Formats: sequence, structure tokens, C-alpha cells
Amino acid sequence: MSTVMQARDLARYYTVSRGFLKGHATVKALNGVSFDLQAGKTLAVVGESGCGKSTLARQLTLIEPPSAGSLVLGNTDVAKASRQEIAALRTKVQMVFQNPYASLNPRQKIGDQLGEPLLINTHLTRAERVEKVRAMMSKVGLRPEFFYRYPHMFSGGQRQRIAIARAMMLNPKIVIADEPTSALDVSIQAQVLNLFMDLQEELHTAYVFVSHNLAVVEHVADDVLVMYLGRTAEMGSKSLIYSRPLHPYTQALLSATPSIRAEDRRVKIPIRGELPSPMNPPDGCAFHKRCPHAVERCREELPSLRELDGRQVACHRAEEING
Ligand SMILES: Nc1ncnc2c1ncn2[C@@H]1O[C@H](COP(=O)(O)OP(=O)(O)OP(=O)(O)O)[C@@H](O)[C@H]1O
Ligand code: SF4
Ligand SMILES: [Mg+2]
Repeated sequence: MSTVMQARDLARYYTVSRGFLKGHATVKALNGVSFDLQAGKTLAVVGESGCGKSTLARQLTLIEPPSAGSLVLGNTDVAKASRQEIAALRTKVQMVFQNPYASLNPRQKIGDQLGEPLLINTHLTRAERVEKVRAMMSKVGLRPEFFYRYPHMFSGGQRQRIAIARAMMLNPKIVIADEPTSALDVSIQAQVLNLFMDLQEELHTAYVFVSHNLAVVEHVADDVLVMYLGRTAEMGSKSLIYSRPLHPYTQALLSATPSIRAEDRRVKIPIRGELPSPMNPPDGCAFHKRCPHAVERCREELPSLRELDGRQVACHRAEEING
């Protein structure tokens, strides 16, 4: 297996104003996340709203530079790359967003929008570009006559197919998809997820798939990274994480997902309270105020991410509570 992306202790901090005369504060939106992404595989990133998923996605697509940590794409360390190398890397990592309409130009025909990455990055003739666009449209299930239509003439699901087609035009090694089906009707979601899967099989693209929906993630993931307040709570293969979650937060998230193998779910574990603010994170384990297993040590000492039972988990008491 070849590693196409390697993130090490990636962090992103933002400075925000606390209001008039109150000075500034630092929001640690992403606070040290590491993973390896293998060619043709899907890493799903899950967690509640505000845990830092989109911030991570922005670092991975080189939209923003990280505040700390490293990102290696193929064999290139992004922090040490020249401008030309960065430009080349940008074609290898593409992004699909939650709202495809916002990422499409309302005044440009779909065929032209899909051909644009080829126009900018290749020396193909117009005829060759049109041929490639038509082939890609057919791959993603868009009829050839749609070539001449504008974005407003499509449904949400069709627009997301267009966004996916555009992301795939340069045959990227990696696609970062941030909640790509969350804005779609449930009946359309499965079709778009299947499209992602079919394209991956055919083109061998690796995905980082961000979602707050664990039922969706179960459908697409090979590996799962569970985030809590900018850090990794638990990470491992989907089968391990879904069949035997070890972190109390993962357990709570899974127990709150009704559609997943209901017969496997033991007791429902409610997640009490709200996600704390990354501007003012609690001491110790960030989950301790909501964790049913918290003890004194959890309030004082940050649990490190460690290997246990074939995955990585950041919980002081993982053995005791799962024994
Ligand atoms: N540009 C920014 N400036 C200041 N704070 C930010 C910025 N971007 C994100 N944040 C903060 O960082 C934290 C993580 O935000 P992020 O958007 O990454 O979460 P998320 O997991 O994608 O949430 P959602 O599921 O709602 O999309 C939040 O507290 C958010 O308010
Ligand atoms: S370290 Fe403590 S508070 Fe944190 S998840 Fe584990 S038991 Fe709960
Ligand atoms: Mg987000």
C-alpha cells in the first residue's frame, strides 16, 4: 500500500477578538491531528459541529497553512515545497464541499466549468477537452446535453455530481469531501455516496470524507478518525471502531446513531451538555465534563493518544471501562 498523504500533529489556531476592551483570544480549532491516508482508501473524519473537521479539511487542501505540524503529500513536505511544487500539489488534491451551488459559477455553462481545470493545467486542444468533459459527465451520470446548461437548471443532487466531476477532471490522487451529502435529500444521498464509491474503485482516488453522520460514514469509510475539540479521540479501521469502540465519546456517538445495526447497540449513552469552546477548553481530558466515566485524573491530565486493541485511543480509562 502506498501512503498518499501523511499528517503529523497538524494544528490551526485562530486569533479572535473577545469584544470591546477585552483583547484577543486564541481558538485552537485544530490541535494536533495525525494520520496516514493510503492510495484508493477512505478516511472518514467524524465529530460534532465545531470539533474542527472543516478546519482540518482546509489544511489538507492547502487552502490555509497550518499553525503547526506537518503535511506530506506523496513525497513532498508541503512546508518545504516551492511555489511551483505547491501549484502542482494543488492539482493532486481536490475538494468537494457541502453546498455545490456556492462552488459553481452561476453564469458559466457546466461544460465550460468542467473544462476549466484542463484549460489551466494541460495543453489539450479544445476538442480534446470537450471530449474529456463529456466522458467525465457520463461517468458521474450527467446526460451529454447538460453540457450547455447553467448551474441553476440542476437539482441539488445533480449539482453535487457536477462538483464531483470537476474535482475529478485532473485525476487527483486525493479528494477531500467536507459533508458532501449533508445538504441533499436523504433519497439522493445514497446515490451520491454510491457515485463516490464507484469513482474510487475506477480511479483509485483516496478520500478524506468529513461527516457528522455515522450512518453515512459506515457506508463509505475504510478508516475512521473521531475528533473531539480539535484532537483525535479515537482512530482505527471502520470495522474495529464500529464493532468495538473504546473511547466513551465514540461509544456515545455510535449509540446515538439509530440506523446502525440496532441489534448490536447496547445501552444508549446520551452525550450530556455541549461541546466546550475551543477558546476556553477544559483542563485534562476535553471530554471530562460530559463523560460518564470521568474520575479525578481526567480533570487534571490530558490523555495521550495511544495504541490499544488495534487502534489509537485517547482515554486514561479505556482498559478499565471496556474490560
Ligand atoms: N476562521 C476562523 N476564525 C475563528 N474561529 C474559527 C475559524 N474557523 C473555524 N473557527 C472555529 O474553530 C472551531 C472549529 O470549526 P470547524 O468549522 O472546523 O468545525 P466543524 O467540525 O467543521 O463544524 P461543523 O460540523 O459545524 O461544520 C469552531 O469553534 C469555530 O468557531
Ligand atoms: S480520559 Fe476520562 S474523561 Fe476522558 S474519555 Fe476517558 S474516562 Fe472519560
Ligand atoms: Mg464543517
